[in-house]
Amino acid sequence: MRSSIYGISFFFLFCIFPLVSGQLASKQSNTMITVSHQLANSSWNVEKEQNPCLWEGVTCNAPHNDSILSLSLSGFGLSNSSFLPLLCQINSLQSLDFSSNLFNSIPVEFFNSCGEIDGLKSLNFSKNMLVGSLPTFQKFVGLESLDLSFNSLNGSIDSQLNGLSALKSLNLSFNHFTGSVPSRLGKSRVLEQLELSMNRFTGEIASEIGEHGNLIKIDLSGNHLNGIIPESFVNLTKLETLILSSNQLHGAIPAGLLGITTLQRFSANQNNFVDLPSTNPSMSLKILNLSYNKITGRILPQLLLGSNLQTVDLSYNMLTGPIPVTISSSLVRLRLGSNYLSGPIPSTSFVSLPSLTYLELDNNSFTGTIPPQIGSNRKLALLNLAQNKLNGTLPDELLNLTQLEVLKLQLNKLSGEIPNQIGRLNMLSVLNISWNSLNGIIPPSISNCGKLISLNLQNNGLTGLIPDAIGNLKFLLELQLGENKLHGRIPDMPQKLQISLNLSFNNFDGPIPTTLSGLNDLEVLDLSNNRFSGTVPDFLVRLSSLSQLVLSNNQLFGDLPQFKPHVSVDINGNPQLHRPKDSPPVLSKKRKPVGVTIVITFAAAVLVVEVVAIVFLLISRRLSKVNEEQLQSLEVLSPPRVIQANMLTANGGP
Ligand SMILES: *[C@@H]1O[C@H](CO)[C@@H](O)[C@H](O)[C@H]1NC(C)=O
Ligand SMILES: *[C@@H]1O[C@H](CO)[C@@H](O)[C@H](O)[C@H]1NC(C)=O
Ligand SMILES: *[C@@H]1O[C@H](CO)[C@@H](O)[C@H](O)[C@H]1NC(C)=O
Ligand SMILES: *[C@@H]1O[C@H](CO)[C@@H](O)[C@H](O)[C@H]1NC(C)=O
Ligand SMILES: *[C@@H]1O[C@H](CO)[C@@H](O)[C@H](O)[C@H]1NC(C)=O
Ligand SMILES: *[C@@H]1O[C@H](CO)[C@@H](O)[C@H](O)[C@H]1NC(C)=O
Ligand SMILES: *[C@@H]1O[C@H](CO)[C@@H](O)[C@H](O)[C@H]1NC(C)=O
Ligand SMILES: *[C@@H]1O[C@H](CO)[C@@H](O)[C@H](O)[C@H]1NC(C)=O
Ligand SMILES: *[C@@H]1O[C@H](CO)[C@@H](O)[C@H](O)[C@H]1NC(C)=O
Ligand SMILES: *[C@@H]1O[C@H](CO)[C@@H](O)[C@H](O)[C@H]1NC(C)=O
Ligand SMILES: *[C@@H]1O[C@H](CO)[C@@H](O)[C@H](O)[C@H]1NC(C)=O
Ligand SMILES: *[C@@H]1O[C@H](CO)[C@@H](O)[C@H](O)[C@H]1NC(C)=O
Repeated sequence: MRSSIYGISFFFLFCIFPLVSGQLASKQSNTMITVSHQLANSSWNVEKEQNPCLWEGVTCNAPHNDSILSLSLSGFGLSNSSFLPLLCQINSLQSLDFSSNLFNSIPVEFFNSCGEIDGLKSLNFSKNMLVGSLPTFQKFVGLESLDLSFNSLNGSIDSQLNGLSALKSLNLSFNHFTGSVPSRLGKSRVLEQLELSMNRFTGEIASEIGEHGNLIKIDLSGNHLNGIIPESFVNLTKLETLILSSNQLHGAIPAGLLGITTLQRFSANQNNFVDLPSTNPSMSLKILNLSYNKITGRILPQLLLGSNLQTVDLSYNMLTGPIPVTISSSLVRLRLGSNYLSGPIPSTSFVSLPSLTYLELDNNSFTGTIPPQIGSNRKLALLNLAQNKLNGTLPDELLNLTQLEVLKLQLNKLSGEIPNQIGRLNMLSVLNISWNSLNGIIPPSISNCGKLISLNLQNNGLTGLIPDAIGNLKFLLELQLGENKLHGRIPDMPQKLQISLNLSFNNFDGPIPTTLSGLNDLEVLDLSNNRFSGTVPDFLVRLSSLSQLVLSNNQLFGDLPQFKPHVSVDINGNPQLHRPKDSPPVLSKKRKPVGVTIVITFAAAVLVVEVVAIVFLLISRRLSKVNEEQLQSLEVLSPPRVIQANMLTANGGP
């Protein structure tokens, strides 16, 4: 008797219980098994695991697990979408994620049958290969999130989305849509995220978008939109992010827009805007990018005061007047380059700003001296004051900026000597103080800047010898010492030199030194306009990467050795130097720089990402004359971060 009771209990515990309350409804289970046969993916295999709730990407309504809530087949490598309508039989579904597969179409039956699932809230087909026009979403009355980004959908958007009355998040970015930006986006106006970037939308931004008062994020960047920003946008009182970059929008920015109290990010770079809004920006504002517009007038002081402000980019505009005397202490990055700003750099603007990491004031008309106070911004990693009218000496206080990785002061009127202790800046990878009026010697301590990649001292009045220890700069790829008054022995050169070694227009004499013989990566060697004498040594022929050798205006003599045809050799102004009889003078085309890729890869391993971008820009600009426009990639979303311990983090720029 007792044992039979136990027996019955055991029966209940181990057989009935799991059958009744731990198992998927058989209809759903059968559907899943049918689908699994079509998928042929080992993580969906009823032989291995009988309970589909435990298959990868399947979420059931735990703890009962009698119905499926969501399916994620993201990254399953699927290309045949014919099974999709089957899944619509699972009417408990709330979320379907098919992102990162290889679908090029979605069967029409999918829209018919999945539209019937009232509880379906989220649909993700991002990162597939979908082509054709946007499907019509009939029914789908509960759908809150639709992500079709990163596909190749095209055509215009008319009424396809009209039925989606609960839609909160729409992402159609990175497709080929044309026509005007859709504006009727769900009658109930619950839309919060609108992402339409990187398409081919044209025309004006419909004022109706401003009537979706719940919008938190709008991204319309990378389209062909024109017209103005609708005035109605100032009514978007929950807006946090507005990105309009890279369009052809123009006119004035609506007065109240920056004042929206929730607004954290406004990026409208690469448009044709003409005015900065005159109202005070919201205290929430963190990121403001209005670079590459046609903005005139002065920078109003309140624009740079926001207590949460991190990034302001107003470069490439037509701004005039001075820099405001007070700047928010939260600022991380300030770019005011390539405007018509003038006056001195105020000594009060940049004092002990604890977060300031990137400061770019280049290509303006600033006068006066470099304020020593700049040295108090201890976090600075990039300081670019190039191409202004700054005079006076390099303040010693700059040497306090021990985090500096890029220092660009070229094309100014700086005088005096390079500080002896320049070697304290031992994080430097780019030092450019070319085209100034510096004199004195090249301080030997420069060899402590062991991370230098590019050192440019061109066109100053530097005298004396090249320091012996220069060979210690083992990452140096470019050394520009031309147009100075250097003389004497040329020491061993950094062995990695690749982009260029330029010693032209100095007072070097004697034979071309053997210290140049090991530079097997070097592409350009310029020894012109010195007093080098003797014959042209054979080791130059063996520099295997050399594409350009400039020997003009020296006192070389004898027969020029036979160089490979792709090496262009300029020997003008050496009356005693002759090309071998049977070789015609080579006017070779400028060889494509083999170095650039290596440079970039190399630099990426060591540097702040911005630095990479800069080195890349400079090198590519100089060597392959890449069109500047091509390099104006869209803004990247996260704020810039300096790399820790040689590890590269995600980029904030370009
Ligand atoms: C229910 O399903 C979830 C996965 O969806 C799983 O983690 C859990 O272990 C399942 N519970 C039971 C009792 O099977
Ligand atoms: C199965 O799906 C996983 C993702 O969970 C994917 O990594 C794998 O490549 C797929 N296997 C096959 C054979 O497609
Ligand atoms: C896609 O799968 C279905 C069902 O398994 C099959 O009938 C069809 O031939 C497949 N299509 C392609 C192009 O492989
Ligand atoms: C859709 O899937 C992609 C890729 O897995 C993911 O990055 C994206 O956040 C998803 N979309 C939504 C709205 O969750
Ligand atoms: C959309 O793309 C398809 C090919 O993917 C093409 O046949 C069709 O003409 C395109 N439609 C439009 C409106 O561009
Ligand atoms: C599309 O946009 C939504 C809403 O902003 C976002 O959650 C999702 O991650 C985006 N998708 C991708 C692939 O980035
Ligand atoms: C902003 O909203 C108010 C109230 O709904 C409305 O009266 C006004 O016309 C709107 N302003 C714009 C510019 O659309
Ligand atoms: C300097 O600034 C002007 C004005 O924005 C711009 O047109 C020019 O291209 C800039 N020059 C450089 C070298 O960036
Ligand atoms: C720097 O230039 C200013 C004019 O812009 C001039 O008044 C000043 O004397 C100059 N200072 C030096 C050290 O050359
Ligand atoms: C900054 O540099 C100046 C001049 O080199 C020096 O006198 C001063 O002590 C330095 N400040 C700090 C905080 O190290
Ligand atoms: C340094 O400045 C010169 C002069 O403007 C410029 O040609 C060169 O590209 C700059 N190099 C670097 C690495 O900044
Ligand atoms: C602003 O946008 C431009 C592209 O127009 C980009 O190059 C730049 O890096 C952005 N500025 C910041 C600070 O992110």
